[in-house]
Amino acid sequence: MHFDIFTLFPQMFEEVFSVSIVKRAVESGLVSIAIHNIRDYTTDKHHITDDYPYGGGAGMVMKPEPIFAAVEAVLGRPETADNRQQATFGKVPIILLSPQGRLFNQEVAEELAQHQRLALICGHYEGVDERVRQYLVTDELSIGDYVLTGGEIAAMVVVDAVTRLIPGVLDGSSTVEESHAAGLLEYPQYTRPPEFRGHAVPEILLSGHHGAIACWRRQQALRRTLLRRPDLLSRAKLTVEDREFLAQLQREAPTSEKEPLS
Ligand code: ADE
Repeated sequence: MHFDIFTLFPQMFEEVFSVSIVKRAVESGLVSIAIHNIRDYTTDKHHITDDYPYGGGAGMVMKPEPIFAAVEAVLGRPETADNRQQATFGKVPIILLSPQGRLFNQEVAEELAQHQRLALICGHYEGVDERVRQYLVTDELSIGDYVLTGGEIAAMVVVDAVTRLIPGVLDGSSTVEESHAAGLLEYPQYTRPPEFRGHAVPEILLSGHHGAIACWRRQQALRRTLLRRPDLLSRAKLTVEDREFLAQLQREAPTSEKEPLS
């Protein structure tokens, strides 16, 4: 997977991509990341990347020329001859990060992980000139219903979530069991010591009975999802036993998560 990130603030990415899983994925050659400074693609003396909005109003708008120039310099001229049409760069999605995009989630991360190359454009200021949206980008993503100062943090989120889905980046089992992978939240995890300030680890986890532990974890995941994110249950892959367990939970008075099921 190759990521091309187009930004006015390249330095924001250095630290984040030089630690942990993304760093290891890059070192092992499974992932490569190129950060492109949009300012480098300006042609005027002052390297201007933004301008006042037509029609007035607060804030600045990112100019289209440097963004088009940067993407075309890196990915080549678009294949569409007609300037009035949406540009296409082979199969490479050109993604604008903005609060107006479709909501990024695990499903979208899985969809993006199927590609070999992704281009991410980080918007800034009050927004980007609408022609970038109309004639350059093929997709627009938001990482949540809140407004960030720019698309940079959102691009980091996308790179992180997609990278961990690339085969070989994590050891196999962790992705499968992870929150959201099966459409459920994750079960509670414990490590040593077995007792901490008088609070013991659930006995079953120390029992060595793998079948019973798997069953307990599944039930914990179901209960946590029911309590915290019931909206996820309608799309989760549930067995008959899962459904029976949920029905049983719903018949009982709502319980606090502070007391895990025994
Ligand atoms: N830029 C500003 N806010 C954003 C958000 N919520 N998601 C993606 N990009 C953004």
